[in-house]
Amino acid sequence: MNFELSEEHKMIRDAARDFAQTELLPGVIERDETQTFPKEQIKKLGELGFLGMMVNPEYGGAGMDAISYVLAMEEISKVDASCSVVMSVNNSLVCWGLETFGTKEQKEKYLKPLAGGEMIGAFCLSEPEAGSDATSQQTIAVDKGDYYLLNGTKNWITNGGTASIYLVIAQTDVEKGHKGINAFIVEKGMEGFVIGIKENKLGIRGSDTHSLMFTDVKIPKENRIGEDGFGFTFAMKTLSGGRIGIAAQALGIASGAYELALKYSRERKAFGKEISKHQAIAFKLADMATEIDAARLLCLKAAWLKDNGKNYDKASAMAKVFASEVAMKTTVEAVQVHGGYGFVKEYHVERLMRDAKITQIYEGTSEIQRIVISRSILK
Ligand code: CAA
Repeated sequence: MNFELSEEHKMIRDAARDFAQTELLPGVIERDETQTFPKEQIKKLGELGFLGMMVNPEYGGAGMDAISYVLAMEEISKVDASCSVVMSVNNSLVCWGLETFGTKEQKEKYLKPLAGGEMIGAFCLSEPEAGSDATSQQTIAVDKGDYYLLNGTKNWITNGGTASIYLVIAQTDVEKGHKGINAFIVEKGMEGFVIGIKENKLGIRGSDTHSLMFTDVKIPKENRIGEDGFGFTFAMKTLSGGRIGIAAQALGIASGAYELALKYSRERKAFGKEISKHQAIAFKLADMATEIDAARLLCLKAAWLKDNGKNYDKASAMAKVFASEVAMKTTVEAVQVHGGYGFVKEYHVERLMRDAKITQIYEGTSEIQRIVISRSILK
């Protein structure tokens, strides 16, 4: 067993770290406050290959492994989780789903611009009545021969307004339950496709979250992904990898808050010495460092399993549930270490605390991860 990163992995991590510090840090507080999507920053991320990291270069990707993806996600998330959620959805849900299950034509037409960063994608599973219970899809696509007629509403869709390509999960045969679900590629601008209002969120406020409405949208048959009835399996398999990305996002939020708390505690003096020299603070730092290390190991293990063609469903759920709980706990403690300064925006930790919460909710709540893990253990 080797815990040392390769030189290539270190280079990718350092490139992501540089990008985060130079391109994301300036303006991150303002983007959060004004709910401004990091458009320019995402464009640059795409040019650097971070939006299609694991996609084969044949389709415009960077051809990297999942370990590299975790390392980059951690560094970007330390500074700007609104930016890293765009990166995560595009890489692990949209690009991976299309590359793994799409036809050659779908890859040529949609994957290439998505992997190259010319377009971004969205993954549309959640509905007003189907968040955790993903089999209860109310969005219906009726087979009309050459095309499907799509009707329904999707909620809380990341990149909802900014995406060009949407992977939409819909029920095509109610009688067949989850075996009667399909996934479709929907383009922005298709007639009957309306983007709803942008959500005003607690955290990741720079990201763009919308509801989407479909009224008699004609989806060409060739835009279905996989065989008829493959949609639920498609969603589950895609989300399994997506959870590695969100686990790494949570890890980054935690390690970003920890680094800020460490720095602050070495500068701030109280009762005649730096507060890091008070055991009350030193022990908090010790716990943060330990838990972050454990979260990082779980993220890297899940990525390693994926890179080595092994099953990673349980490992990605473990990484996500643990890292997201560490993110929540660490950011709350980082605010505490900062005292009053932690409660104001300039010190960044209050934003990280707000951003941490979503990692326990999206791509499956912590409760869903525990269902996945316990079913895997008990089966
Ligand atoms: N790979 C392949 N197949 C899978 C699978 C996987 N990882 N997980 C489940 N399946 C299959 C099962 O084998 C089963 O198939 P068979 O009937 O043929 O055996 C079928 O799917 C149904 O599985 P379950 O009976 O386990 O289904 P369930 O209704 O009990 O629910 C669940 C399973 C794990 C709870 C699932 O519904 C789930 O993951 N829910 C959460 C959904 C989610 O993560 N939503 C997030 C939205 S996306 C998002 O947040 C993106 C964003 O914007 C950031």
